[in-house]
Amino acid sequence: MIGGGRGAFIGAVHRLAIRLDGEAELVAGALASTPDAATQSGRELGLDPARTYASWRELIAGESKRTGTDRLEAIVIVTPNHTHFEIAKACLDAPGGGFNVIIDKPLCHSVQEVADLERLTATSGRLLAVTYNYIGYPLVRCARELVHAGELGTIRKVFVEYHQGWLATDLASTGQKQASWRSDPAKAGGGAISDIGSHAENLAAFVTGLEVDSLAADLTSFVPGRRVDDDAAILIRFKPTVPGAPPARAVLTASQVCVGEENGLSLRVYGDKGGLSWRQEQPNELVVNSLAGERRIITRGSACVGSGAAALSTRLPPGHPEGFIEAFANIYRGIFEAIRAQSSGAALGDLAKLIPTVREGARGVRFIHAAQESSKNNAAWTRLDSL
Ligand SMILES: NC(=O)c1ccc[n+]([C@@H]2O[C@H](COP(=O)([O-])OP(=O)(O)OC[C@H]3O[C@@H](n4cnc5c(N)ncnc54)[C@H](O)[C@@H]3O)[C@@H](O)[C@H]2O)c1
Repeated sequence: MIGGGRGAFIGAVHRLAIRLDGEAELVAGALASTPDAATQSGRELGLDPARTYASWRELIAGESKRTGTDRLEAIVIVTPNHTHFEIAKACLDAPGGGFNVIIDKPLCHSVQEVADLERLTATSGRLLAVTYNYIGYPLVRCARELVHAGELGTIRKVFVEYHQGWLATDLASTGQKQASWRSDPAKAGGGAISDIGSHAENLAAFVTGLEVDSLAADLTSFVPGRRVDDDAAILIRFKPTVPGAPPARAVLTASQVCVGEENGLSLRVYGDKGGLSWRQEQPNELVVNSLAGERRIITRGSACVGSGAAALSTRLPPGHPEGFIEAFANIYRGIFEAIRAQSSGAALGDLAKLIPTVREGARGVRFIHAAQESSKNNAAWTRLDSL
């Protein structure tokens, strides 16, 4: 693991998710940006001192010398956004055939970096997985299965919202760790649009199977002195899927100044036969409506979920709430399946097929750039392929 040391947010979540099913173990780390913090964090986690490194460069150099069953099967990157590209590139390029990479979103900063990572992933033959964790929820997978089975008919309209309130004030000026780098354009690459807007784009695309063609974005910064956006409102046109019919549309909002909102990610999808809605803060329920006026509430673990990937993504019987960690662990289940298939040559299993790879990571970065470009041009319609 690179990043995720003492006081960090998402690294600890990754560690819980990695361990949940007992399929993998953390054996080495360069866990922080300074040597002292990195060493101290490794000690606190009980890592072997010989595999606790002062920097990510030392980790890659040291671990590249190991072979066979002693070699790392993947490196997890949970550092702030501006470091992603250089570290991921070095992992894929490492001596001995490179390492599989598991990286948190957004994949990297620039569109050029995206192209380099796409090329390097292809030439190295390594896996690059991006932890868009919200698509790990069983009922998000169930929603996707219903859409793909045609239960909603042709998709017309999508509303996806990601609303938080924790940045309603200038939290960065207090020195708060997570707010500080997220408020620095050079480190974050964008504000709400890259921090949470990219999750919203990924969730909508995953459930509907639709990809953003073009968008018109209005990004704002409400908090005085803030140098990144803290509010984004975006109109989206998806790529056409039905000849002659208008392509589906979406409205995506991402905001970190919505006082009282905690982690308000929600999705509503409407087709010509039905609609569905799902809320991250109530993840164990999926509401499905039919044209005839029938309303069903599908609960996680119930028979309505069927036997596909959604059912495979649940661990407890209905009524025993599962949440954020379990959904994160479902992304890891797929990653572990993919890594096993890589070494055995077996076909990818149902969960491995769902992991977000460099393709989804690249699309996320292009989405962020298109939104920023559009907003600079007074919300002009901007095509992702034009970047
Ligand atoms: N998927 C999600 O739901 C989710 C949630 C939060 C954050 N994230 C993403 O995870 C990443 C980390 O975010 P966070 O909130 O955990 O940040 P954080 O500030 O809490 O933690 C970052 C960690 O990286 C370490 N670090 C910084 N530079 C480093 C370097 N050069 N070498 C080694 N370690 C270094 C820091 O010391 C710290 O331990 C970001 O890319 C963020 O967008 C994803």
